[in-house]
Amino acid sequence: MLAGCAPSDAGSRALTPQPGAVSPSASSQPSDVPAPSGTGSASTAPTEGPTSGSGTPSGTGTDATPDGSASGSPSASSKPGASSKPAPSGKPSPSQTEGSGKPSPSTKPGQPLPAGSVNCAKVKCVALTFDDGPGPYTQQVLDTLESAGARATFFVVGTQVKAHPGLVKAQVKAGMELGNHSWDHPNLEGLSMAQVRREFSRVDQEVKSLTGVTPRFVRPPEGALTKTQKNTLHRPLAYWGVDTLDWKTRNKEATIKAASKAKAGDIVLMHDIHPQSAAAVPQIVKNLQAKGIHLVTISELIGSHPKDGVGYGWGKRP
Ligand code: NI
Repeated sequence: MLAGCAPSDAGSRALTPQPGAVSPSASSQPSDVPAPSGTGSASTAPTEGPTSGSGTPSGTGTDATPDGSASGSPSASSKPGASSKPAPSGKPSPSQTEGSGKPSPSTKPGQPLPAGSVNCAKVKCVALTFDDGPGPYTQQVLDTLESAGARATFFVVGTQVKAHPGLVKAQVKAGMELGNHSWDHPNLEGLSMAQVRREFSRVDQEVKSLTGVTPRFVRPPEGALTKTQKNTLHRPLAYWGVDTLDWKTRNKEATIKAASKAKAGDIVLMHDIHPQSAAAVPQIVKNLQAKGIHLVTISELIGSHPKDGVGYGWGKRP
């Protein structure tokens, strides 16, 4: 049982620099998340959110702005150089604008596609992400995604990887992306840089030894990482624009409602350790695909050149 996972993530809502985002102490919810009927059951939430207060926002300064300019991005050391900036990410060309409304025939949502085959500069894409697993409901989520021709990114926790190696292999085999959510889900802000690196490197090694693949993105527990830690970790960071609050509501319908509001470019946060979340995935996939949205991995959503030290995921394609 990963006590603290969900509430920890909830605390990171404070990071979201969106209008209407909640402060950690507020009882309200982000404007894009409906008031779930099951809120009353979230009795565990406050007790496990150890740092939902002052510590969390410290890292916001380095996050990518919604337009991808990454103006607050870290020191020059982690910048690839202005001259090498990928051209397409900034302003859409006429053809991109045209294409954004309707998927091309070869990339119709719902059709099984090999990973990496969707061009999210041209079609509508959303990245579903599942944290804190793998666990007992992961296979169910995988089956749903596979049968719908959808992909997602699983931010795995090292201890869970160790406990469920077969599921990790199944995730990769199914064309899913694996992200790194630390070894045992601590609040990283209180750790030394060496400890932070170890939290992520252990997961990298474990996943690589199982699958041959090393996770590209990291997602710190609680979204919490100091500015200095971000700047020295030299990894792309993945956050989210749509928080389903599934850990809190533990309610299938509320999770469906929240996730189905995702728009092109969004990263959606869920947790595959809750049965209600797994049960919500079929309808979420159906709702989003019905809007012409392709469900892709974070790498596909962001493109091929995520920048180290930059936090992606504030609701628009970086
Ligand atoms: Ni988590």
